[in-house]
Amino acid sequence: MKSSSVQSLVSDAPPIPLEGSGIEFWSLNPETTFLNHGSFGARPRDVSAAQLAIKEQLDADPFDVLVYRGQSLLDQARSRVADLVGCDIDDLVSVINASEAVNSVLRSISPRSDQNIVATCHGYNAVNQTVRHVCDRSGADMRTVVIEPPMPDEAGIVDSIMSHVDRDTCLVMVDHVSSPTAMLFPVKEVIDRCHELDVPVMVDGAHVPGMMPLNVAELGADYYTGNLHKWVSAPLGAAFLHVHPSHQSSIHPIVISHDLGEGYQQEFAWTGTRDPSAFFAVPSAIDWFESRFGWDAVQAHNRDLVSWATGRLCEEWSVEPLDVPESSRATSMRTIALPDTVKGHFDDIEDWRIWLREHHRIDAAVHDWANRWWVRLSAHVYNRPEDYEHLIRNGLAF
Ligand SMILES: Cc1ncc(COP(=O)(O)O)c(C=O)c1O
Repeated sequence: MKSSSVQSLVSDAPPIPLEGSGIEFWSLNPETTFLNHGSFGARPRDVSAAQLAIKEQLDADPFDVLVYRGQSLLDQARSRVADLVGCDIDDLVSVINASEAVNSVLRSISPRSDQNIVATCHGYNAVNQTVRHVCDRSGADMRTVVIEPPMPDEAGIVDSIMSHVDRDTCLVMVDHVSSPTAMLFPVKEVIDRCHELDVPVMVDGAHVPGMMPLNVAELGADYYTGNLHKWVSAPLGAAFLHVHPSHQSSIHPIVISHDLGEGYQQEFAWTGTRDPSAFFAVPSAIDWFESRFGWDAVQAHNRDLVSWATGRLCEEWSVEPLDVPESSRATSMRTIALPDTVKGHFDDIEDWRIWLREHHRIDAAVHDWANRWWVRLSAHVYNRPEDYEHLIRNGLAF
């Protein structure tokens, strides 16, 4: 007998694979069962080739690519990203990763010692560590909102966050899709409620570009960052930061360089010599998905596949997914509680992950969260039902 939360997940059949999406089109090792797109993404071969072509031009004539053509290549890529994520190109800058964006914002805002920053226990560890660091240095208070199982509904999530916000809050840091819990947060409601109190919000949307439709301008956060090397499958080291125009004059890149004082766009455009090929190759990643399948088809496939896989795994292992509100499940990742047998057999959840890799060539994300061990499944277009069946068959056979 399936529990009701598992029952609601099980769909009769997995989605039909999209034509031309198979692992042979990706740079991934086909001998590894890769269920962990969420951590570092993966790249189609065509995208890796596009980046290599840029790197070759860069090495052949660094001055040409970095200086003469640098700004126009950057603008072309920013323009494609702005279209994808729904914002004005002037409000969006390129960064290497979400960590760089979070550090740039947090280290620009300099809280006073009588202020506080609100984050949640669903936050990515590196992001919460940055909040902690900034608070420790300034004497400000870090308030971590604990939202643990049994999970409240969407309104309850918003209320939990807001119960920690007051007029001394100088920033609320909230995930759009969280890392350990793969939960879609009601960020629009959080932003609107915070703005009623004049409290700024930074949304950590590291997972969101490519995973789901996004309109950053409509959301209206003060700061929004998204990785492009995750679900857009751009080369590693491609991300963006969006800063609302009202804050642009006070936000500086974490690396200060020549153009300090020259404005938001110029300061972020040059942060020392670095390899810009990942960001310059973002248009080829966007083209790959748009021209081959269209984003709607990609996102529906991934959502349906992870939903089906979660149902199968829960059914076979007699476990439950993290019971997030229905409205919070529209993602291509799902977090599932591991059975107690795993804890009985391994000292640390990382040991199970290593065992999976070494014995079965399976790569899956694991988390020790809210005093339980969890596996997080991802689904992208190259994944097939057999990948999850491989985990189901072997994952507990220790
Ligand atoms: C929710 C979230 N935020 C931030 C990050 C940090 O991303 P990066 O390591 O690319 O800076 C991650 C990485 O997985 C993440 O999942």
